[in-house]
Amino acid sequence: MGRIFSGIQPTGNLHLGNYLGAIRNWVNMQRAHESLFCIVDLHALTTHPEPQKLQEHIREVAAAYIAAGIDPEKSYIFPQSSVPAHCELAWIFSCLTPLGWLNRMIQFKEKAGKQREQANLGLYAYPVLQAADILIYKATHVPIGEDQKQHIELARDIAGAFNRQYGQDYFELPEPIILKTSARIMSLRDGTVKMSKSDSSDYSRINFLDDTDLIAHKIRKAKTDSDPISGKPEAMEHRPEALNLLGIYATLANLTLEEVCQQFEGSTFAPFKKKLIEQILAEMDPIRKRMIDLLKDQTTIDTFLKKGSDKARSLAFHHIKEIQDIVGFLSL
Ligand code: AMP
Ligand code: TRP
Repeated sequence: MGRIFSGIQPTGNLHLGNYLGAIRNWVNMQRAHESLFCIVDLHALTTHPEPQKLQEHIREVAAAYIAAGIDPEKSYIFPQSSVPAHCELAWIFSCLTPLGWLNRMIQFKEKAGKQREQANLGLYAYPVLQAADILIYKATHVPIGEDQKQHIELARDIAGAFNRQYGQDYFELPEPIILKTSARIMSLRDGTVKMSKSDSSDYSRINFLDDTDLIAHKIRKAKTDSDPISGKPEAMEHRPEALNLLGIYATLANLTLEEVCQQFEGSTFAPFKKKLIEQILAEMDPIRKRMIDLLKDQTTIDTFLKKGSDKARSLAFHHIKEIQDIVGFLSL
């Protein structure tokens, strides 16, 4: 049985893409695997959050994990910054990672944009820290959305580089787990870009804390077209917004896209959207309510985070000692 690691940045606006692409899948996996679900606050620092907002968002992600069904007694829920070994291993990995590998990272290019010279070193080194997050626990599986695939491939390359450099099979190469159904949830305004925390339009996404009316309103406003729904997804390839909504429905209803297209064949979007709103509310309403309750009680959240941090720290400490010994540091 393997060990699972995944994480989300506490940068606010946790949305349906994070839920369907990541958190929802974690809930099922935690039953069969030892699981660590991290709140990657060190990564969030690359975006220069206000300290008070950062604290708020860390607790918000913790509340979302728990409200969505992650069991804080069974799985480890903790902020990345509470386990120093992530940074210690990241440095060791930095010394083994050729710049050429980092220069290929799509997310860096997207986030740095045209201002590459102004981008901070943290953003550039981001995937090295991500590799350390996973490998410090010797995690074997990493459930993520499709956008993170390249980072996990890099983590595998770095693990291989370490093993080769030190002539050992210390790290097993971690496997990404990307569920096809929920791989990529797109913006409600533009079906060619992914739903994202940083989109300037709040109407592009469904947030965990959106209430019933707002969710219904956002879906009614979501971009579609005036053609009826086709019985075959292939016939809708040039209609990204329509496909996205059908895909969201399929994922929530645990159906295939084909099944949903058949079910709604010939329908216009107004009646379909009604059904979609029902599906989203059935799943997200209880989560929002639990999340709001949890957020009222900061002490309980902090107690869960402390427990998760203690467990994670002790596992990471054990591994970092072995790694320090392998690379030739003195154990004093
Ligand atoms: P982030 O919001 O970038 O911190 O991403 C946290 C997790 O949610 C990662 O596993 C992402 O792959 C996943 N994720 C983020 N946005 C989406 C999306 N639009 N569709 C599917 N998965 C997503
Ligand atoms: N980079 C990931 C994201 O933006 C978050 C993350 C950091 C992560 N470290 C990780 C995901 C380790 C999986 C494993 O979504």
